[in-house]
Amino acid sequence: MEWTSEICLWSTFFSLSAALLLLFALGRHKSHLGSMKLPPGPRGWPIVGNMFDLGAAPLHTLAGLGQKYGPIVQLRLGAVNTVVILSTEAATEFFKNHDLSFVNRTITEAMKSCCYDQGSLALAEYGPYWRMLRRLCAQELFVTGRLNETVDIRERCVDDMIRWIAEEAGNTGGVEVAHFVFLMSFNLLGNLIFSRDLLDPNSSEGAKFFRLTERVMQWGGKPNLADFFPSLRWLDPQGIRKKMERDLGGVLDIAAGFVKEHIENRRLGLGQENRKKNFLDVLLESKGDGKDEPAKISNRDLNILILEIFMAATDTTTSTIEWAMTELLCNPGSMSKVQDELARVVGRNRKVEERDIEELRYLQAVVKETLRLHPPIPFLVPRKALKDTNLMGYTIRKDTQVFMHVWAIGRDPASWDDPLCFKPERFLDSDIDYRGHNFQFMPFGAGRRMCAGVPLANRVLPLVLGSLLHCFDWVLAGNITPETMDMEERMGITLRKATPLKVLPKPHTV
Ligand code: HEM
Repeated sequence: MEWTSEICLWSTFFSLSAALLLLFALGRHKSHLGSMKLPPGPRGWPIVGNMFDLGAAPLHTLAGLGQKYGPIVQLRLGAVNTVVILSTEAATEFFKNHDLSFVNRTITEAMKSCCYDQGSLALAEYGPYWRMLRRLCAQELFVTGRLNETVDIRERCVDDMIRWIAEEAGNTGGVEVAHFVFLMSFNLLGNLIFSRDLLDPNSSEGAKFFRLTERVMQWGGKPNLADFFPSLRWLDPQGIRKKMERDLGGVLDIAAGFVKEHIENRRLGLGQENRKKNFLDVLLESKGDGKDEPAKISNRDLNILILEIFMAATDTTTSTIEWAMTELLCNPGSMSKVQDELARVVGRNRKVEERDIEELRYLQAVVKETLRLHPPIPFLVPRKALKDTNLMGYTIRKDTQVFMHVWAIGRDPASWDDPLCFKPERFLDSDIDYRGHNFQFMPFGAGRRMCAGVPLANRVLPLVLGSLLHCFDWVLAGNITPETMDMEERMGITLRKATPLKVLPKPHTV
């Protein structure tokens, strides 16, 4: 992999120059560590620790460590102590008894650009600012009443996506589904936040916002040496911080322009007739609780929050739908069942609507089964230990970063029958869901820092997947068969399919 060789070169240089320093430091800490029972894990190399033990597929390597070392494994990635949680039992203990000790996040260098981490909700320290934003999400943005008001927006954006796909299929024969789902999610967020189609051909600022957001996500997901060796931060060895400052700065400027225009239109009463409150109105009108919360969200933080909602929603939705389609195409029995259900509940004469979802039990099970096997954020957003904490008899030292390996937990034979098989039926007569109470299934995380957007995702995922399956029959493009389908994953901000799924949509004849 490109990044491994880049990292290898820098690490060799760095290793030699810093080896003496570290040996000295280790010697000093030895007596203190002796009194703690640290989690087991593979012995690391001087300086680089276990960085090169991870190989080309860290997800699989880390999952495999559980067999040798047990459910809580400790590693050192460069200078960063890292613990990986690998079983339902350890996850239950973590969230039930220690959520507060791990409530903060590890912040990467890239995310410090343009003070992003200071305005972000996902990276905010547990405290009044974070609490205010979570309250806004729960009571204003993702509350049932507000989501009900915006059903027509979601359905229209999905209709647009279906139309784009039909046009593309007419032109080229095969389509990359993920591309269209990404555009749809982006436009949907544009409508929920700004009440406008950002990908409208007339909006050049919208298109630029889109391109820069894609790049920001690219830099945000790239492993960075400066995170593993904090003493290299000043050097920015891969130039990630510099590129992030440039692109994040650009996208925040565009967001600021949209916000300014929106405020001005509100002031002049332009385009306000029959307009429902959007996310931006809610954020602009937000007030603190009169105690320790900030009285108002600053302009800088407002722009950061807006961008964050785009980033949190688009890639995760795209990844889930692409994997769901892939699994269904590899499992024709499940594909038939879900399409039969759609034909029975919705019928051939109309489109899928959000009100149908409750009755589409098999479709919901397909979404869950996809999220079990392919959670878009497979380690959750890494947590950080606030203090030395005892977890199942092991000491997790202060500042250790914690990966909750939900991908491995979702495939653990101790929790799941036939764990590697795609079987949506397992969710049909089961109470297991992704609301953060079933620790064997946590695609949205759990505890205080659980995903804030679950109520929205819960509506969007089945609507999008159901519409794709109801409007078209799908056939694999090229010579791909279910047996030869490439299931390899690629890690970025989310876990995506390494080779994009290319399929031939054939409109259903009504
Ligand atoms: C398939 C869809 C999605 C998945 C799988 C997903 C997953 C996650 C996960 C795993 C986390 C970290 C949880 C933890 O550390 O315990 C998270 C955090 C978050 N998600 Fe999502 N997410 C999705 C969609 C969304 C949407 C649609 C939004 C908003 C529009 C959103 C907003 C957030 C926010 C704001 C956080 C940070 C919460 C905090 O730190 O307090 N997500 N998400």
